[in-house]
Amino acid sequence: MQIVKDIDSLRTQIKAWQREGLTIGFVPTMGNHHQGHLTLVDNAKKLADKVVSSIFVNPMQFGANEDIDKYPRTMEADQEKLIAHGCDLLFTPTPDVVYPKGLDKQSFVEVLDVADGHCGESRPGHFRGVATVVCKLFNLVQPDFACFGLKDYQQVQVIQTMVEDLNMPIEIVPVATVREESGLALSSRNGYLTAEEKTIAPTLYQSMQWLAERIKESDTADIETLAAEASTKIDSVGMRTDYINVVHARTLQPVSDKDKELVILAAAHCGKARLIDNLQFSR
Ligand code: PAF
Repeated sequence: MQIVKDIDSLRTQIKAWQREGLTIGFVPTMGNHHQGHLTLVDNAKKLADKVVSSIFVNPMQFGANEDIDKYPRTMEADQEKLIAHGCDLLFTPTPDVVYPKGLDKQSFVEVLDVADGHCGESRPGHFRGVATVVCKLFNLVQPDFACFGLKDYQQVQVIQTMVEDLNMPIEIVPVATVREESGLALSSRNGYLTAEEKTIAPTLYQSMQWLAERIKESDTADIETLAAEASTKIDSVGMRTDYINVVHARTLQPVSDKDKELVILAAAHCGKARLIDNLQFSR
């Protein structure tokens, strides 16, 4: 696996592959790889001739109250895992490579509507940071396919919308969430959980499953009241619900009576970790 830190070396390799007519699959990450990330690499490998990944802890997507310095960094272990999964090139830029003028002078991408609400409301500016860095990485890597984990459901919708709105010739490939046996979605943030918190964290997903079943049971279900009940279940084990919303699966807007494809989006604090999860279902 080639490891490149600068834009010129990245572009040189990408151009060489393009001249040979090879397709490129891309897996952008912030590192601290677990099976969820590696499943993205495996998917990219099946779709494309060459797999490029990036590890960049993007300062633009962290809020002033979120400690980017505490974000887990495990570069050497990540590299070994990427090699084992057949990644061809890893791009590991520093912030001054990605944002040479600094964040204040950086043009940005603002995706409308799907970026509002849910995590967009709890973390103002987060999706602007995500869309901007992913747009820059897409321009550098010029992938044919880009794989994203569905655990970050709203992020996938934001990126899909950016690609459609800005006519980017890239196929976004959403990949199913990898879960522990308990149902807990794999996440770098699970590393913040104590052993005891790990036993209560699966309640987030269990409460979402309970909510989906209640909604499927009855066409006249009062979704807001049921969501409030699910939130109480989450809080009752010692977590603190940030939000639990049932919305249209693509627009992420409130559900109307005729909507059949729905998703539950939820976030909850568990000790030092803020966990997010989602559950897509039809009714
Ligand atoms: O999901 C992530 O790890 C990040 O939000 C991403 C897509 C790599 C952008 O920094």
